[in-house]
Amino acid sequence: MKFAAIAVMTTALFAAPAFAEGDAAKGEKTFKKCKSCHMIADGDNTIAKGGKSGPNLFGLPGRVAGTADFKYSKSVVAAGEQGIEWTEEEFVEWLADPKAWVKAKLDDPKAKSKMSFKLKKAEDAADIWAYLVSVSPES
Ligand code: HEC
Repeated sequence: MKFAAIAVMTTALFAAPAFAEGDAAKGEKTFKKCKSCHMIADGDNTIAKGGKSGPNLFGLPGRVAGTADFKYSKSVVAAGEQGIEWTEEEFVEWLADPKAWVKAKLDDPKAKSKMSFKLKKAEDAADIWAYLVSVSPES
């Protein structure tokens, strides 16, 4: 099991990265775009104030999709049930087009996502990912 995980990580390291390493400081600024719907809160400790129309993004890296205390779409829950966890790659793809992401993950052209927001630049997404990693508990 451990070996498999290391093998996967090593492959990820050597496979040509699709995007550059994100910048957490820039990501913190770009996170403004998400705040109307998302907060980052560790219980009572609010790291970034935000709305509640989207799930809390605290501890997102490594979290199974659709598992925070939130009323998700069926599609995102189904993606989680398939074992999909949030990695940088999934996150960047998701932000580019959440609807396209659920369709692709579930292989269902009718799948829908409740997130009606797209982030065009993969670079911005990578920065936000680095920011989320920086404020998440160490695993
Ligand atoms: C207009 C509101 C809105 C905005 C703006 C928004 N989101 Fe979302 N987000 C949602 C909703 C609603 C969901 C739940 C989607 C579903 O259940 O289909 C969601 C889900 C997510 C998820 C899946 C989380 C999980 O627990 O599985 C991630 C990751 C995410 N958003 C990241 C972001 C980031 C990063 C930004 C800013 C770049 C952003 N969102 C902007 C509303 C929004």
